[in-house]
Amino acid sequence: MNMNIESSDLVLQLVDVDAATRARMKCQRPVAIWLTGLSASGKSTIANALEVALVERGRHTYLLDGDNVRMGLCRDLGFTDVDREENIRRIAELGRLFVDAGLIVVTAFISPFRGDRALARSIIGEDAFIEVFVDTPLDECERRDPKGLYSKARAGLIKNFTGIDSVYEAPLNPDIRLETLGRSLPEVVKQILDYLDKHFARS
Ligand code: ADX
Repeated sequence: MNMNIESSDLVLQLVDVDAATRARMKCQRPVAIWLTGLSASGKSTIANALEVALVERGRHTYLLDGDNVRMGLCRDLGFTDVDREENIRRIAELGRLFVDAGLIVVTAFISPFRGDRALARSIIGEDAFIEVFVDTPLDECERRDPKGLYSKARAGLIKNFTGIDSVYEAPLNPDIRLETLGRSLPEVVKQILDYLDKHFARS
């Protein structure tokens, strides 16, 4: 196997069945709905409920979730800044393929760095990317602490934990900002569905 393929040796192969054809067959406008927020902010719960709601509408979807992807595709990556950057880059490339396949992709990753989320947007495509900020304050995430990770991080047992000793760069201008405190799950999901109805007529 040649491990040193120069990018100049690669030629983009043209195919006859294209993204538009696949989207048309699914009667939907493919898009990536990119959830970002702290650990325990509610990303996975919201992503799951959103996918259920979309499937009930007859949409073709795929959910990519942080912990699950880190058990497979990204099992070689940790939580240094460099590894998180690579994690998000791979998810973005995967998201691009799934959007190209005609799917509505929902992603749930902390994706703490603005630059990496901007890269994901550029990889997937400006017109097919919705940044959703799951805006749950750190003290509430820490109070929930469903996996006990915040208390481990406070005790110094986990290093580089987002919000404790690793930065979370909140989106400055997200497409959707979801406040979760004092709001029900259906209410929050409806906010995303309403956005899709308004901006992505066929999503
Ligand atoms: S990201 O920063 O690269 O986007 P990702 O969403 O894939 O993170 O993974 C976050 C999940 O990994 C958290 O929900 C938590 O369960 C677990 N985790 C383990 N160690 C850490 C850490 N140091 N910082 C944040 N999350 C961690």
